[in-house]
Order: sequence, then C-alpha cells, then structure tokens
Amino acid sequence: MTEWHRAYIQNAYRELEDGITRRQLDALRIDAIGKRVLDVGCGPGNLLVALSTDTPELLVGVDIDAIFLESARSHISKLIHRYSVDPALLRAVLPTLPFADASFDLVTCFLVMPHVPDDKTALTELARVLKPGGTLAISGHGFGFPLRYLKRFRLKPLQMYLASLIYGCIGKKWIRNTLQNDRKICDILKGIGVMPKVRHYNKKVLGCVATYWIKAIKSDVSPKETQ
Ligand SMILES: C[S@@+](CC[C@H](N)C(=O)[O-])C[C@H]1O[C@@H](n2cnc3c(N)ncnc32)[C@H](O)[C@@H]1O
Repeated sequence: MTEWHRAYIQNAYRELEDGITRRQLDALRIDAIGKRVLDVGCGPGNLLVALSTDTPELLVGVDIDAIFLESARSHISKLIHRYSVDPALLRAVLPTLPFADASFDLVTCFLVMPHVPDDKTALTELARVLKPGGTLAISGHGFGFPLRYLKRFRLKPLQMYLASLIYGCIGKKWIRNTLQNDRKICDILKGIGVMPKVRHYNKKVLGCVATYWIKAIKSDVSPKETQ
C-alpha cells in the first residue's frame, strides 16, 4: 500500500464519519432503498458503506485497484452492521464492466471520470448496465480543483492543466487526474440518452468549479429509436 492509498483511505472514512458522503447523496436526491446498486471505482468502499444503510436489494462495488478492494473488504466487515446490506466486491475496469445490460437501478461513479481515458466510452458503458428509468450519479474535478494547490508551489496543478489542454485538443486523456468541464459531460450524457437532472458543486475556487456531481436518468427510449 502506498502513502497515497493510506491518505486517501483515511480521508474517505473521515468524510464518511462526518456525514459528508451522505450529504453528497442527499444533495443529488439519491437513495438506494430497495434498489439494485452498482458503485464503479468504489475505492476503499466509503460510498458502499453509506449506501448499504438504505438496505438496497443488491449492492455491488467494483474497482481496478486490488489494494483499494482489499481495504474496502476490511472496512466493510468492521462497519457494516447486521441490519444493512453486505456488498459484493470485485475487480473490474471501466469501460468493460462484467454485467448484463440493464442490470441496475442506480449506478454511482464518484471521482472516477478523471481517471478514464475516454469520457464517452466510459459513460456509455455505465448507461449500458443501467435499467431504463434508472439513475446514474457521477462526479469529477473541474478547473477549480488544482487551484487549491496554488498556495504552495507544486507541480501537480501544472500537470493537470497541461493534461486538460491536451485532452481538450485531442479528446483523449493521457495522464490521470485530467480536469473536466461538467457541461461537456452533461452534453455527452444527453447524447447517449441519459438526461441530467441535478447538478451540484462543493465549492468554486476563483469562480471555477472544484468538484462537480451530476445525477442523470436513463430515458426509456434509446437514442437510436428517436432518430
Ligand atoms: C479518487 S478514487 C474515488 C473512490 C471513491 N469512488 C470515492 O468517491 O471516494 C478513484 C477510484 O477509481 C478507481 N479507478 C480508476 N480508474 C478506474 C477504472 N478504469 N475502472 C475502475 N476503477 C477505476 C481507482 O482505483 C480509485 O479507487
């Protein structure tokens, strides 16, 4: 486990304990009650723990990183009480999820979009596993995110802006943590028949969005049928 994993896990569980994770779900007006739920890029399982208290019918978490999955297993076994639902955890990589079409009522994918190489391919895959009428909740970072680092000189903000510029020109991400324009994400969602309903920002830095959350609903009619 790297220092970065350790710091991320500690912060994620602090946010869970402080009720921040629940407030993010509430801001999007999302609950998992009686639903079939998939959390993509579940990391150390913080969101899964929050969702499990809604007693969903099914709760599944997937992640690319075996270290995070191991941490999720250990935290969940300690934190999930008998009255909440025990999630299934497996290693899987967006954009190739090992689930049939229309398997879930709710798909969450928080802070994973900065890491996937192509937004449209990733969002199309998330929509594929969602039932018509189902809810997709995603989040990512906007241009305000690295501005928080500017107080001290660090290379990371510069790298992120550079990556974002290249992404803007060629449409492909070349390093992790590329920043996104959430309006562009909404346009992609509309194009694949998943309609954005709620947009939420935690804070803006110098007028730029730091972290965005989007709730979108998959329409009952596929985009192909409407053409
Ligand atoms: C910033 S963390 C977010 C974790 C958690 N969703 C949260 O909100 O705290 C990003 C997570 O996405 C995972 N991830 C990155 N790329 C992925 C991919 N292509 N498929 C699945 N998981 C991915 C990482 O391993 C990591 O756990």
